[in-house]
Amino acid sequence: MVKSLADLPQAEPHPLRVSTYVAEHARRGDPADVLATMDRYAREVRFLMNVGPDKGPLVQELFARLPEAARVLELGAFCGYSAILFAMRLGPLGRVVSVDLGEESVEAARANVAFAGLADRVEVLQGDAADVIPTLQGAFDLVFLDHWKAFYKRDLVAMEAHALIRPGSLVVADNVGEIFKPEEYLEYVRGCGRYENEHRVSTIEYTDIPDAVEISVYRPGH
Ligand SMILES: C[S@@+](CC[C@H](N)C(=O)[O-])C[C@H]1O[C@@H](n2cnc3c(N)ncnc32)[C@H](O)[C@@H]1O
Repeated sequence: MVKSLADLPQAEPHPLRVSTYVAEHARRGDPADVLATMDRYAREVRFLMNVGPDKGPLVQELFARLPEAARVLELGAFCGYSAILFAMRLGPLGRVVSVDLGEESVEAARANVAFAGLADRVEVLQGDAADVIPTLQGAFDLVFLDHWKAFYKRDLVAMEAHALIRPGSLVVADNVGEIFKPEEYLEYVRGCGRYENEHRVSTIEYTDIPDAVEISVYRPGH
């Protein structure tokens, strides 16, 4: 039986090592402890591309603008860190749909969400965002773009076309610091005339490397 990280075969995909670590070290049913455990893993064992403890609160601030029964769509689940953070902040009426194309990521995210006791608020879907977007129904109050950066514009255009955002929806794009070459996406949201934009400077999770988040409010027809 796997008892610790050292027992895991090298070939085991990384996200599953994270969910194993969470199950071994975190308190079941305690989302804050699940996040703290993932932070500890990222600092002490191996880097994780979670939204992390610095940018997380910055994104969370936005939740004050959302209705109680808000719906959040996230592209890029990885190990479920941001999905857990958002579900905690939304409260019992909120719902998070999180999409990831990686089988191991989806398995780890579902395991971590269930371990945190939030499975009734978070649904993790497997697939390429481009394929999943047309299958979703109804507008979301907040969309979090945190998958591969080259797809941000493509998938935002698709979400507009499928009415997954409505006037007033918040579109939050992580990793739009210079290092990620975000020009195509930033030119789109700032130049198309349908968004009010705010640029928030931060750092890449668990590092001092500069990064940024673009917060865009959908205002078609303004
Ligand atoms: C930065 S991580 C997400 C981190 C997560 N939001 C968090 O803060 O905990 C990016 C994830 O996007 C996924 N991804 C990349 N391209 C994708 C696509 N086209 N559709 C769905 N998921 C994608 C990757 O598999 C990876 O797990």
